[in-house]
Parts: sequence; C-alpha cells; structure tokens
Amino acid sequence: MQQKIIILDFGSQTTQLIGRRVRELDTFCEILPYNKFPVGDESVIGVILSGSPFSVHDPEAFKVDLSQFVGRIPVLGICYGAQFISFANGGKVEKADSREYGRANLCEFDCSNPLFKGFVPNSQVWMSHGDTITAIPEGYRCIASTANVKYAAYASMVQPVWAVQFHPEVFHTTQGTQLLRNFVVDICHSRQDWSAASFVDTTVAELKEQIGEDRVILGLSGGVDSSVAAVLLNRAIGKNLTCIFVDHGMLRKNEFRDVMHDYECLGLNVIGVDASEKFFADLAGVSDPEQKRKIIGRDFIEVFNAEAKKIKDAKWLAQGTIYPDRIESLNITGKVIKSHHNVGGLPKEMHLSLCEPLKWLFKDEVRRVGRQLGMPEHLITRHPFPGPGLAVRILGDITPEKVRILQDADDIYIRGLREYKVKLSGEEARRVLAAGVPANMKDGEIEVSLYDQIWQACTILLSTVRSVGVMGDERTYEHPVALRAVTSTDAMTADWAHLPYDFMAKVSNEIINKVRGVNRVCYDISSKPPSTIEWE
Ligand code: XMP
Repeated sequence: MQQKIIILDFGSQTTQLIGRRVRELDTFCEILPYNKFPVGDESVIGVILSGSPFSVHDPEAFKVDLSQFVGRIPVLGICYGAQFISFANGGKVEKADSREYGRANLCEFDCSNPLFKGFVPNSQVWMSHGDTITAIPEGYRCIASTANVKYAAYASMVQPVWAVQFHPEVFHTTQGTQLLRNFVVDICHSRQDWSAASFVDTTVAELKEQIGEDRVILGLSGGVDSSVAAVLLNRAIGKNLTCIFVDHGMLRKNEFRDVMHDYECLGLNVIGVDASEKFFADLAGVSDPEQKRKIIGRDFIEVFNAEAKKIKDAKWLAQGTIYPDRIESLNITGKVIKSHHNVGGLPKEMHLSLCEPLKWLFKDEVRRVGRQLGMPEHLITRHPFPGPGLAVRILGDITPEKVRILQDADDIYIRGLREYKVKLSGEEARRVLAAGVPANMKDGEIEVSLYDQIWQACTILLSTVRSVGVMGDERTYEHPVALRAVTSTDAMTADWAHLPYDFMAKVSNEIINKVRGVNRVCYDISSKPPSTIEWE
C-alpha cells in the first residue's frame, strides 16, 4: 500500500509548499480541505495541519474534529494548526502584542525531542502570526522558545502530537526540512519510496489495468505536461494511444516541425494537423484580445473534434492535468475554489471517460518523471507557452507576415537565452534546482543557461507602433519588439528577470540586424501583479 501523509488545508498561502517539502522527502502526500480527513484510510501515516488567514477566535474560523486522528497517528500543527490544537484542548490563544512576523531564533529547545533531532543552537525560524499561544493544554509541554515567543513549539506528553508556531516549510526556516524529515521519516516512519521510478512503475501498471485494450485520445500542445502524459500512456498502452497536435500557425519558429520530430522519436502515434490557414482566415482583421482568444479557442475545438471523431472506437480522453490544477484551495470566505483546465467541449456523444495520469504530481515531479521516461531535456525544461500562442504576443490584428517577424525575433532571443551560461549560488541556485533543472553543485555553485534560470521568456511584436530609425544610409519606419523574461514559481506572481546587459546588447543587435520589419528592441520591466506575463 502506498503510504501517505495528509495535509489538512486551513487556507494558508504556504499549504502547497508543505506538500512539496513532504514530496521532496520521497513521501507521497495529499492536500485536502481542513474538514475532509479520510477517516478509515489505513494508508495515512501522519497528519499536518496547515496555517490559516483566520484567528481561532473568528466566528467563521475553520475547525476540525481532532478526535478523527489524534491518538491514532502522529499529528503536526503548523502556525494556525498549532494554535488550533492548543485552543481545542483548553489552552489559550490571544492576540499578540505585536504581530510576530519574520526571522527569529530558537534560543531554547528540547534537543532530546525527536522533532528537533539534528537542530543547532539558535536555529533560525520564520514566524508569521497575529495571535499567539499564551497557555498550552494540560498534558502538553513546551519544547522550544524564541526571545519573544514562549511556545514556539510544544508537544503532548501522552500522544504523538507536535505543534510549531513557526513555518518549517519556508526557506527562511533554515532547518525546516530537517524538522519535516524528523516528523515524516522518524516519527511517521515513512518508507520514503515515492520516487519518479516508483511512480512510473505503479502508474503504468494502473493504466494497463484501467484502460485494457481501449483506445485513448490525447491532445498534445508541445508543452511538458501533455508530452509527459503521452509518453507515460504510450509506455502503458502503446499504439492504442492516438495523440493529436494542432498547428494553429502561431507556434514558435519551426516548433511544429521540431516537436513532431521529437514525438516521433519517442515512438508516439501522433496526428499532426496543420490548420493554420483556417486560423489566419478567421482571425483576419480582428484586433481585440478577447475576440482573438475566443476565435482561437473555438477553431481549436472544431479542428480537434474533427480529428477525434475519426478515431471511431475511442473510449478515453487523456489530459496532462497536474496536481496544482486540481488542489481545492480555500479562500478566506470559506468557499472551495476548484481550478481545473479542460481540453474544452468534446462532443458529448463521444462518451469519453477522462484519464489524467499526472494528476498527483507537482510540476517539478512531472519533469522528473519525464527524465525517468528518457525524454529529451529540451522538451522537459521548455517554458510554458499559452494555448493561443503568438496571437497574444502580437498587438493588433494578426497576419502571417507579422507572425513571421515575431517568430524570427523570438528565435534569436530564445536561442540566446539557451546559449548564455550563468553561475548561481545560494538561494538562487536552490530555487533553480528545486524546479527540477539538472545541474551539478560544485564549490557551492551551479552553472545553468539563462533559459533554465527563468520561468518564462517571450517576445512581443508592437505592431500597432512604428518608430523612426536609421540603417546604413536608409531611414527606417518600423515596429519595435519587446522582450520579456520573468522568474516565478507558479505564474500567479512573477518578477521581471534581471538579465545581464551584455546579453541584452547582443540580442538587441542581432534582432535589429537580422529581422526585417523590426528597428527597435525594448525590455519589459514590469512585474505581476500589476502587469501580467503575457501582453494580451
Ligand atoms: P498571465 O499572462 O495571465 O499568464 O500572467 C500566466 C501564465 O499562463 C499562461 N497563459 C495561458 N496559457 N492559455 C494557456 O494555455 C492561455 O490562454 C493563456 N494565457 C496565459 C502564460 O503564458 C503564463 O505562463
């Protein structure tokens, strides 16, 4: 049986991070709404209660019946989780004199407690709470304090319950991973057998069982999620998988050809559909961003459906949905928000069942699975690319000529990012490694390309703008392009990347010299929010 840790989500922004940290310990975990503990599930080896934007005293605060698991399996409360355990057992939680926020040090801790195995004196922790515990329940004892927080951590003397008011999941708690390892491995006895290899083995076996001899359709986008899902399914059911890859004419330069080649090398059964003429015809003269998206979405479904219908006896529609797309995250109003992307309205009469083999994985795990499956690195580390493609990167209406200009400029930029190497250390190196980029640490440094250092890069053609330039003896009156590069972990927020000046100078020069139709290059220095990553 696959062991798992349950993380009960009380609405904290860092709940997903707890999940990722547990997975990094090669232990499977599920994030569930605070009131959805799976009573009776024998595979659960431990429970973590997350933080929350609420105070335990708020009338609408999320509450859980602790008797469902306390005394049965080990429990770790984090921040609000710690305050709730205290509050629910007769301890006291009060408003802190001042909000306890930021770095602190554990000036006292019980080094004999298994939660603190390996901890060094004055270990740095990260606090973020408005309430504080002023008395712990009977039967519990304090196991760590900071200068300002007496009950930084406490534990039951009779049951396997631990609680910390700081956040072990965040980077600034320097021994946070050690604490989580102590809980997950030593206290909950995780076998640490959740790995890309074990995932591939069990998923392939499950897919064989689930699908049998049925036929499956999968829409490929060239992106990492759908590609990994396809290769995994191909390993399980081979030629019974038919993939459809639609070219709407607004992919990157040569992308349709290159990606089709990659897919064929991977042994996938792919139908490539060049529908660019239809898309260009339907988009002619349309410059409103929403209108463009609607037309592309509608045309895409039409083209995809026409191909899917040719696969007469298909029973399943496979998708590259990943875990963050599905997690039911809670917002402060208590409403459960479910975000789920769908390949959009396949006709009901096809009666297809949904198959989502990556639905338990975080993005970096998808990449690890891709490597385990032997997929080429350039396919695995590819930046996200929007469904409507370059159409949302051309301001104004779209023509094949504008797409050609943008493709040429973008190709120079992206190739440049791949070729330019940088050395990273400290937090930056750790962030890049955590995202699944393969690099070896040497003397505290890693070497990666600029492309791998950033989340996403794109070029935007400002085709509604013209400016004057001079080339040789000729006056030019042409369009600018904007270059954009952002760092991010989930695309919800993003910072503009501080690219080296010598790189920008070289790329700008090459674009203006080589791309007919462009005489100016700008760099977008806006972060999200308030801007978005794409321009339209
Ligand atoms: P924004 O522009 O909203 O983008 O900051 C956030 C992330 O989503 C991608 N994106 C899309 N992906 N269809 C997609 O499949 C779309 O219509 C779409 N719009 C934006 C964008 O590239 C970024 O990674």
